[in-house]
This record gives sequence, structure tokens and C-alpha cells, in this order.
Amino acid sequence: MLEHHTEQLLLVDRVGPAVSQPPDFETLYRANHDPWRVGTSPYEQRKLEIVLACLSRPCYRLAWDPACGTGHLAVRLAERCDRVLASDGSETAVALTATECRGVGNVTCRVSRLPAVPADLGAPDLILLSEFFYYLADVARAKTIALIDRVAGADCEVLAVHWRHVPADAWLGGSGAQQEIVTRLASLGWTHRVHHDDDEFVLDVVDRRTRS
Ligand SMILES: C[S@@+](CC[C@H](N)C(=O)[O-])C[C@H]1O[C@@H](n2cnc3c(N)ncnc32)[C@H](O)[C@@H]1O
Repeated sequence: MLEHHTEQLLLVDRVGPAVSQPPDFETLYRANHDPWRVGTSPYEQRKLEIVLACLSRPCYRLAWDPACGTGHLAVRLAERCDRVLASDGSETAVALTATECRGVGNVTCRVSRLPAVPADLGAPDLILLSEFFYYLADVARAKTIALIDRVAGADCEVLAVHWRHVPADAWLGGSGAQQEIVTRLASLGWTHRVHHDDDEFVLDVVDRRTRS
């Protein structure tokens, strides 16, 4: 488990040039409805199964997927959740998620850009941080962690997963993003429960539950 402090971690994994502008996701999705081949690549499909296997509970009341992309995770979460709120900063991504989740009655789709929160979010007991945190600039990342701590239900679990390397258009690498999420939430009283160190991605689960 990690024992670093937040201040130290801000310097972790700054390999390669820091970007000054995140990708224009809306333009990416308009040009290609699955830019990262989430629906077809064996890597993404295996990762999705590992994400689902690392969730500690069989069922959740409300999952929030705040950068839902194409919706492939949201539609699978719907099988284990009373309700899923799938949001993204890109309108086209949200439309793709709505299409992916058509016929699934318990997924609500919203356009919402972090660090803002969808107005009807409620108090999730599961939050997924999948492959987007490294695209947020320093202030947005800090605000996003603060808002997670603010909106999360008392028994909330956060699962974070990122490609472990440094995307050319990201502010930091996936390993650093994971360390930052875990350390910042731990400093707010959350407990690190799972660390999965895969060849190409890193996954962590933290929660704020008291366990006997
Ligand atoms: C690499 S994709 C990952 C999508 C999905 N979470 C997955 O794991 O397949 C990054 C996603 O983050 C979204 N995103 C980036 N910055 C965001 C922000 N500030 N608020 C909400 N969504 C954002 C993008 O629109 C895009 O859908």
C-alpha cells in the first residue's frame, strides 16, 4: 500500500512533456465513435472484466461514471446497480452512451464536465474513475477529488483504473494518476482496499466504509 504524501505525489510520474491543452474529446468522438476501441479491443474487454471483478459488492444503489465515454462500462454496471448515472463532458460521448444503454432502464445519461457535478446526482455508493483523470489539469484534479469526497455516500467505494503509461496528450501518466487519487483520498480518511498492477494498467479501490 502507498505511504507517500500528497505533496510528494504531485511530482510523481511527470515523465515527458506536460501538455498545456487537453484533447478536444468532442471532436475526437465526432470523427470516430470509438477512438480507443473500447468496444472491440481485447485489452479493453479484459480490463473491463477485471474492473467488474475488483468491485467488492455484488450490488450497489447508485454508481456514478463521470467520464463515461462510449458507455461500455456503464451498461455492464447497470447489471449490478439499482441506478447508474453516466456523465461526460462530451455531448457526443453521452449520446454514444445513451445508444449503448438503450433498452437498459436504469442508466441516466448527462452532459457534465468535471469538476462540475450533475444536478441530480444524489449520493453514489460507487464512483468509477476510468481513463480520464490524467487529462485533467492540476486544479481540476484537486477539485475533482474534493467533489468526490463531498458527494460520495457514507459507504462509497471508488474504483480508479488508468493505462499505466503517459499519454502524449495528458498531464501525467496513469501510474501517477492512480497514486494521486489513492493518496489524496487516503488523506481525507478513505481506505485503500485493492491494488491491481497489470502489465498495461493500474487499478485501485478505495472506500470510506468502516469494516468490522
Ligand atoms: C479516454 S476516454 C475514457 C472513457 C471511459 N471512461 C473509458 O474508460 O473507456 C476519456 C473520457 O473522459 C472524458 N472527459 C475528459 N475530461 C472530462 C471532464 N473534465 N469532465 C467529464 N468528462 C471528461 C472525455 O470526454 C472522454 O470520454
